[in-house]
Amino acid sequence: MTSSLATVSYIGATILFILSLGGLSNPETARRGNVFGIVGMAIAVLATVLGPRVTPAGYAWIVGALVVGAAVGLFAAKKVQMTQMPELVALMHSLVGLAACLVGFASYVDTSTVFPTEAEKAIHEMEIYIGILIGAVTFSGSVIAFGKLSGKIGGKPLLLPARHWLNLAGLLVVIWFGREFLHAPNIQAGMTPLIVMTVVALLFGIHMVMAIGGADMPVVVSMLNSYSGWAAAATGFMLSNDLLIVVGALVGSSGAILSYIMCRAMNRNFISVIAGGFGTGGGAPASGGAAQPAGEVAPISAVETAELLREAKNVVIVPGYGMAVAQAQHTVFEITKLLRERGVNVRFGIHPVAGRMPGHMNVLLAEAKVPYDIVLEMDEINADFPDTDVSMVIGANDIVNPAAQDDPTSPIAGMPVLEVWKAKTSIVMKRSMASGYAGVDNPLFYKDNNRMLFGDAKKMLDEVWAALQG
Ligand code: TAP
Repeated sequence: MTSSLATVSYIGATILFILSLGGLSNPETARRGNVFGIVGMAIAVLATVLGPRVTPAGYAWIVGALVVGAAVGLFAAKKVQMTQMPELVALMHSLVGLAACLVGFASYVDTSTVFPTEAEKAIHEMEIYIGILIGAVTFSGSVIAFGKLSGKIGGKPLLLPARHWLNLAGLLVVIWFGREFLHAPNIQAGMTPLIVMTVVALLFGIHMVMAIGGADMPVVVSMLNSYSGWAAAATGFMLSNDLLIVVGALVGSSGAILSYIMCRAMNRNFISVIAGGFGTGGGAPASGGAAQPAGEVAPISAVETAELLREAKNVVIVPGYGMAVAQAQHTVFEITKLLRERGVNVRFGIHPVAGRMPGHMNVLLAEAKVPYDIVLEMDEINADFPDTDVSMVIGANDIVNPAAQDDPTSPIAGMPVLEVWKAKTSIVMKRSMASGYAGVDNPLFYKDNNRMLFGDAKKMLDEVWAALQG
């Protein structure tokens, strides 16, 4: 393939990636967006492999790597549960970071490129230094995020004494060794500062994510998404690959926008999230961290729930992480269909951080074929709760916690929540009194108009459905 054909292919792939991101902004066009992304990536890979910079001698290596990579990817995608998706995404981000580090070291020791001027050589070395720096932070930060999201590492923020000073000292070390690296007379001499910086960056990545509390994890996921984009862009600079620069910048900036949206959804300031310390723990999936009982709760049976639903005119369903765990979305939709056929106005209220990844609930409901027009965002539906007969909370907890509004000392104080308690009756479906991801008790459970339907969401909904049909 000639270099101009490769460039044209790269431009085509770039356009497809932009269309893909555009498509992913809406559930109705998301499938098409995905297809654009897949086609764009196929063109990008082909244009790179068949392009002028790869000699036929390298084909065997590339095909071997493709086979291994594709096999691992296929296996992971088939095996991973929907609820484990955020961990998988964190792991993928770590690979982007690792790739940036490896490419950085490889381009440093590669002597085949001759730079016509000293300035160009210095720029290339700067790209390597910054690329490895971003890559190492992304790698170790994502590995810790993986540990926290999968519950292997506790969700409690690790707040070292003088941690901001430690970070500042790390930054100064990185700047100092950067200077040493650029002035190194040869590759051997440059290796030491490069390795020192990599170790500092790895430690910084660990420290940064360890200091972030369980409840702030949504922001961390999108932040690392953004970092992985910048790491890819840095790799693009090191390899002088325009497509990688553009794609990295697209991922980096869209991840940054997502982080901003997540922060707004949780009413948090981005800087204070990075500074860490929010959320009390319970980084393990929601079963962890039992709450202290703080009153009497009123249980309800599936049959009584069905009766309430049958008599209702307006119903709002609020799904959360537990619906994903129980895989109850299909039964939810069966119940929705049944009620709608009987003239009940059923709608869904989706919190921006419900579940464990952005858009988690939308994906599940789309999979169950729930029509998009009855799936509303928090801001669109919150004002309607006073006119709602039954609000049905399915495996959600933190996102319907009134303490976020009423208790300024609560770790989730200030986070906007779905005001389900304003409905005539709210029903919370969960297995026990255990707290949610943020590890805090939920006063909703003890409200007079609230009923608890204890049990696995899928099982209980099956019973409700059977009772509704009966
Ligand atoms: P959570 O607050 O985590 O509550 C989920 C509830 O589901 C738990 O209290 C659990 O109670 C229940 N549950 C678990 N398995 C169940 C099952 N099989 N059947 C019925 N109930 C079940 O979830 P949420 O309300 O969706 O809030 C999301 C939380 O995750 C927020 O704190 C958010 O900050 C955090 N987070 C979000 C993201 C993103 S991007 N969305 C990423 C990381 C963290 P039982 O154990 O008693 O059943």
